Amino acid sequence: MGVYQDQLLPRLQDRVMARKPNREIRARVCAGLRGDVVEVGFGTGLNVRYYPLEVTRILAIEPSQVCMRLAEPRIARSSIKVEQAGLNGERLGLESEASDAVLSTWTLCTIPGLTAALAEIRRVLKPGGALHFVEHGHAPDAKVESWQRRLEPLNKRLAGGCHLTRQIPELITQAGFVVEQLDSYYFTGEPKPFGYTYEGRAIKR
Ligand SMILES: C[S@@+](CC[C@H](N)C(=O)[O-])C[C@H]1O[C@@H](n2cnc3c(N)ncnc32)[C@H](O)[C@@H]1O
Repeated sequence: MGVYQDQLLPRLQDRVMARKPNREIRARVCAGLRGDVVEVGFGTGLNVRYYPLEVTRILAIEPSQVCMRLAEPRIARSSIKVEQAGLNGERLGLESEASDAVLSTWTLCTIPGLTAALAEIRRVLKPGGALHFVEHGHAPDAKVESWQRRLEPLNKRLAGGCHLTRQIPELITQAGFVVEQLDSYYFTGEPKPFGYTYEGRAIKR
């Protein structure tokens, strides 16, 4: 799994995550960001071009150095300063209540210690700060959900630990946020077990 996980997967991720439907969603999810923004699971920097000019600094949290290398041309084209500020969402080496917003796009499915990561996201946000997110997760239809349960072990192995059944809005709420905006839908063109999508914003309580 070493070469696959470390070298091939980031390149595959870069291709898959750059698709047009993802781009449209990125533009919506990044709208309204401003000030210092922590991006958890920065990946290959595919959100950078969608950050509004009101953003002063992007604090990138990303464990894969290959992803960070693939992100370099995108970072170079951006007028917004990007700093790699940590490796893991579960342990953010950032000051408490110092960030204006956090962005997570298709990452909460993958972070192994999601409860710890959401607690950290809450800690670093200023009071009233927002978590902007788009994630896939647990589907409401019983048949799809049963496929998600069947496919999840294999998916975790092939897709870098990606879970299919996480109940994203519930987990965000349990971490001390109010989900103030939420759209849920099946992502067009994606097989249903992989594509049930939660897109929204949550405010730190
Ligand atoms: C499906 S990719 C999404 C990447 C990017 N957010 C995007 O929208 O293209 C999931 C990302 O989460 C990163 N990741 C994995 N474990 C993590 C952790 N513990 N903390 C933060 N990010 C993590 C992976 O390296 C990968 O870049």
